[in-house]
Amino acid sequence: MTQAAPAYGTWHADPDREAAMEASHRPLWRHFIQSIPETDLATRVILDFGCNRGGFLRLLHALKPFRRGIGIDIARDSIAAARTLAGSMPLDFEVATDLGPWRGQVDLAFSYEVIYLLPDLATHAAQMHQVLRDGGVYYAVTGCHTHCPLWPAWRTLIGDTTNAPVQDRAPEEYADTFARAGFDVSVRKFGFDGFVPAHKDRRYYPRLTDALDYPAEHKLLFRLEKQGGA
Ligand SMILES: C[S@@+](CC[C@H](N)C(=O)[O-])C[C@H]1O[C@@H](n2cnc3c(N)ncnc32)[C@H](O)[C@@H]1O
Repeated sequence: MTQAAPAYGTWHADPDREAAMEASHRPLWRHFIQSIPETDLATRVILDFGCNRGGFLRLLHALKPFRRGIGIDIARDSIAAARTLAGSMPLDFEVATDLGPWRGQVDLAFSYEVIYLLPDLATHAAQMHQVLRDGGVYYAVTGCHTHCPLWPAWRTLIGDTTNAPVQDRAPEEYADTFARAGFDVSVRKFGFDGFVPAHKDRRYYPRLTDALDYPAEHKLLFRLEKQGGA
């Protein structure tokens, strides 16, 4: 039984935007998956924190098949959709934010644009440290930080259209919080260099170059390795 979470139906206030987000994130997830050095996941247990409709885990399983995947989110309707969309893949989805039930079970964890939404990042970092096996790695991506030039506008745009409060954090705060929880912390630019739609929402990307620079330059990929392992 998972601890009660401040759950809601969908993260977006407009439920239709949940599926649209999945489609728009898919090329970025593909780049994310190709960016990590791990290739053979056949024996691994994978966690996706803030999985929404489970699309990242389905894509990861298609590209790098794994033994078992666990998807966690506080969006009830999105988790229900994730269960339906999983088909026969070895995926379990739960409405939760507390990772206590999965202590010591996970080899590799991911989150894509979730950590900027967590009011208590220190508790999340501590729980991630507990769910990972020794030597386990957590890859966490976010471009939502105070050093991103788009962030002042985005924090209002995102805050006004979604159901979880956004947090203001500098990249150093993410790094320091995970280091204090016992992770070796390294980071790279996300570095997405593929085609982006030329007509992305101009409220988020006033200039065409913003749509290119954000996923290439400002989005960060943290590699958080549990200390004490191989
Ligand atoms: C920007 S969306 C990203 C979803 C997904 N990772 C993707 O790449 O499309 C953020 C997700 O984090 C989830 N989330 C926010 N706060 C959370 C929390 N405290 N615990 C678990 N999930 C949370 C939201 O419900 C939402 O599904």
